[in-house]
Amino acid sequence: MAHSIAIDGPAGAGKSTIAKKAAAKLGFTYVDTGAMFRAMAVYFIDNGIAPDDVQAIAKACDGITIEIEYIDGQQQIILNGENITGRLRNEETGNMASSIAVYPAVRNKLLELQRKIAFSKDVIMDGRDIGTCVLPDATCKIYLTASVATRAARRYRELVEKNIPADMEAIAKDIEDRDYRDMHRETAPLKQADDAVLIDSSDMDIEQVTDAIIAVYEAALKR
Ligand code: DC
Repeated sequence: MAHSIAIDGPAGAGKSTIAKKAAAKLGFTYVDTGAMFRAMAVYFIDNGIAPDDVQAIAKACDGITIEIEYIDGQQQIILNGENITGRLRNEETGNMASSIAVYPAVRNKLLELQRKIAFSKDVIMDGRDIGTCVLPDATCKIYLTASVATRAARRYRELVEKNIPADMEAIAKDIEDRDYRDMHRETAPLKQADDAVLIDSSDMDIEQVTDAIIAVYEAALKR
């Protein structure tokens, strides 16, 4: 039976950075489920499908194939045969992903793929509903969060480092809107699983959070 570490939490809490580090230390495969929702978002954007057009979205789902590959340990997303990994990480795609993630047709499409990957190998999987829905029997579960101010400041720094113009207030508002949508949708909303360990990374550095997660995993193995 493969081992799995489920990490859920709001946008910008540092899930992917920490999960990648912990995966490298443990020799696990890192699975970024947000990238799968982002890939669906890219498809809807490219095909001019509006985020509130429920019928068009449900219909389009049948024609979408998403596959995961790993190149040098880095997850690649293949959408209908094309590697679109480079197109996933921008605000438009993130907001579209959050909007279309409310639909059961979209979630069901990805659920099967996520479970299949976790069945065959040791994974650290991050997202919004991994501990509550995708992997209810994960070896251990973490709910990783940080204050809105901390998350906005991190995002601001990231954009400035890439020479992309950034406005702190707009970023904070975007984060709050996304949190609200992710936490209040009907299907698989973001929430801490009853058996998840809460880690607030507001005043922790990357190494400290990574070590904390590995400690939670090691403690779970002893149970
Ligand atoms: O983690 P991320 O920012 O790449 O995720 C983008 C959006 O996808 C997020 O706002 C909500 C959705 N998502 C989800 O609903 N369930 C997941 N397991 C992962 C992401």
